[in-house]
Amino acid sequence: MKNFFPVLLLMPNLAFALSKDAPAPTFSREVVRIFQHDCQGCHRAGGLAPFSLTDYTEAQKHASDIDDSVTNRSMPPWKPLGGCGDFVDDRSLSQADMDVIHQWAAAGAPEGNRSDMPPPLKFPDQWTLGQPDVALSSPVAYQVGATDEDEYRCFILPYEAAKDDYIVGLEVRPDNPSVVHHAIIYLDPKNEAAALVKPGDPQPGYECFGGPGYKDFTSVGGWVPGNDPFFQPEGMGFAVPKGSKVVMQIHFHRDGKTHSDRTLLGLHFAKSPITHPLYIGGVANKTDLHIPAGDSNFTISAEKTLPIDMQIVAVTPHMHLIGKKIGLEAILPDNSKQCLIQINDWDFHWQGTYRYKKFIDLPKGTKLRLTGTYNNSESNPDQFYHPPQDINWGERTTDEMFLSFFNFITK
Ligand code: HEC
Repeated sequence: MKNFFPVLLLMPNLAFALSKDAPAPTFSREVVRIFQHDCQGCHRAGGLAPFSLTDYTEAQKHASDIDDSVTNRSMPPWKPLGGCGDFVDDRSLSQADMDVIHQWAAAGAPEGNRSDMPPPLKFPDQWTLGQPDVALSSPVAYQVGATDEDEYRCFILPYEAAKDDYIVGLEVRPDNPSVVHHAIIYLDPKNEAAALVKPGDPQPGYECFGGPGYKDFTSVGGWVPGNDPFFQPEGMGFAVPKGSKVVMQIHFHRDGKTHSDRTLLGLHFAKSPITHPLYIGGVANKTDLHIPAGDSNFTISAEKTLPIDMQIVAVTPHMHLIGKKIGLEAILPDNSKQCLIQINDWDFHWQGTYRYKKFIDLPKGTKLRLTGTYNNSESNPDQFYHPPQDINWGERTTDEMFLSFFNFITK
């Protein structure tokens, strides 16, 4: 693609030839509309991505990279394999949109007529879900260093539940989106987190990796780049026992500069009766997770038999750096199988909670089977150790995990 411009000069009709006689798509007419829908959530001024796709100049500069990353499906980041699980907010591009982007890039990335441009999108600088019941942040800003490994910091937010309640929606507003990679919100019903703050630490909060570091926690949601905040379905919410504290874990991605961050969390509590409290279950295998150094295809599985009838609302698979594939399937009592999620190019930096459009009905006695593979060899670009080392279950990025959470309701 790099040598395309000279070729175009010699063959002015090539663009037409490529798209079967139709004029090539232009930035202003077709392409920017795809970017608005699927890219600008991250690719905009102040967004998480390294360049903006809101106007022509930048888009034109990156046209060939855009073509490559869209064709190999690395952009937009969307990990679940199609055909296994039907998820809300599926970010994957349709083949038709991929074709438009490809034809545009191949035609030399024409701008087209500016009068075709749609009005620019407005990105919320306010709460997307409306004013929350409480808005919380760390009492002081956190200073993110320029270099070194990524950082996981837990902030104990200034809140304590005055009564038993339910969270029905939450919204995280990253203060500094260029370094906030994701945030996970935990409840601390027994006030255990406070003991983890190091005395004399000049920075707010405490270091935490994997989970929030204390024993009795539940996660009530979070934020990953590009995901819009949402309310739980009618009648559903996460229970918040009276006296609970709220802990926000932020994964900071360093970018070579120092930054300061004071991310905001908005919580919405139930205003009408909760008929279906949300619970979180897990399938994991800690005992067999011993991944030999050099093994490029270590496979493992885990099983859990459901003790009650349930409906699964969302799933959150989890591995660390050397994870390659992870999949969850349900084997129903009649031995029929249902694929719940399959990720074939696991990326530690793009994790999510995937919500089903239609809840998955699973009777008591259903087996959930989690299968995964790891690449602990030098051929894995995410390999941390040179030479590779044996890796076991643990909390650090360089340890591993093998599990999937699932949010469910009972009937
Ligand atoms: C959820 C956020 C997000 C969305 C949505 C997104 N990007 Fe990206 N993009 C990133 C980030 C972050 C990077 C920097 C590299 C990384 O961290 O993977 C990136 C990098 C890129 C790059 C540089 C090459 C590469 O693969 O690293 C291209 C090209 C790109 N994005 C194109 C697109 C296009 C085109 C779309 C929409 C069709 C899109 N992106 C949607 C976050 C996003």
